[in-house]
Amino acid sequence: MTQNNLKYVAVNKPILTSLEKGKKYAWCTCKHSKSQPFCDGSHKGTDMKPLVFMADKDEDVLLCTCKATASGPYCDGAHNNLEDTYAEASVEEVVSMENSTQVNLDLNGKALLDGGAYVLRPSSTNSQSAGTISYQPMISEEDGATKLSLHKIDVLSGISPWLQYEKVDTVLYIMDGKGQVEIAGKEFDVQQEAGIYIRPGEAFRFKTDTLMTVFATVCPLGTDLTILSENVTNFQSEHAQRSVTFDRETATVMANRLYQELVDKKVGSKEVTQFIGEIPKSRAAMHRHLYEEAIIILTGIGRMWTGTKWTEVEMGDVIFLPHRQGHSLECTSDSGMRLMGVFYPSGSPAINY
Ligand code: FES
Repeated sequence: MTQNNLKYVAVNKPILTSLEKGKKYAWCTCKHSKSQPFCDGSHKGTDMKPLVFMADKDEDVLLCTCKATASGPYCDGAHNNLEDTYAEASVEEVVSMENSTQVNLDLNGKALLDGGAYVLRPSSTNSQSAGTISYQPMISEEDGATKLSLHKIDVLSGISPWLQYEKVDTVLYIMDGKGQVEIAGKEFDVQQEAGIYIRPGEAFRFKTDTLMTVFATVCPLGTDLTILSENVTNFQSEHAQRSVTFDRETATVMANRLYQELVDKKVGSKEVTQFIGEIPKSRAAMHRHLYEEAIIILTGIGRMWTGTKWTEVEMGDVIFLPHRQGHSLECTSDSGMRLMGVFYPSGSPAINY
């Protein structure tokens, strides 16, 4: 900028905007427009210009105001590292949270929070068995989900039957144990903390000489687990890499926390994203996402806040968050908290508003 007599500076949070197909927009790049995220001419007299773009469909999007995004006009989460708004709730937010109502688990192990969000503590009731596996739903349409469903699968020693969620994306997470996951004829060694992507139309089975606990997320929801009498040998080899394990060295820093995407575009998943996150002892500012999300607490304890309600969480708990539901996951463990998240539609866990 050649001249800096501009007074107004936009806040570092994206703005939820409804774009109309075929309409042109001028996104502010100088950060001084009072009509954020759009240009109001405040850049005049400088060498900056708005970014003009046309919407190719009717869509609700998060447009960047911090101007640190590498994907302008869209927010890419860069605002989280500019100030500590995500890292810590404000004093006013903490007071509001402390005045909210604690919800305890009901007889089914579920604590129902605001907007249909909930925390579920898995038990072995309601599970169905097939060969070496038993499985039970954790998130389904009946629970209010509209995008994704989640099964917990317990695997005994041996070779499981062939399994399939027909014609949908399936994302596995190895919570415990190790062995092999065979996808439509191709075998992958897997261990605790591995994320695995099964493409639509492929079948899979487990081989282990220990016990395994696996979470299976299915997107979009509405497809039940089918037990096949024989394999479908249609491994889609153009996407050969399917198993990813957490590696702190390659994780992305976001405010005072970090995350690593396991299942995403690099393994061929366009619709769903799976990640591992690490949170220090802290209470994040309330925020929302445009996606629907399932979270599993891997280590640590804390509290889930959703506005007017909150509940305690611990290792093994499943959290369901509808899209746009305000929330804050607080970690109360001195040693921090680790979690696995899966969300649909795909994107970055750093994009929040
Ligand atoms: S508001 Fe700029 S990256 Fe999110």
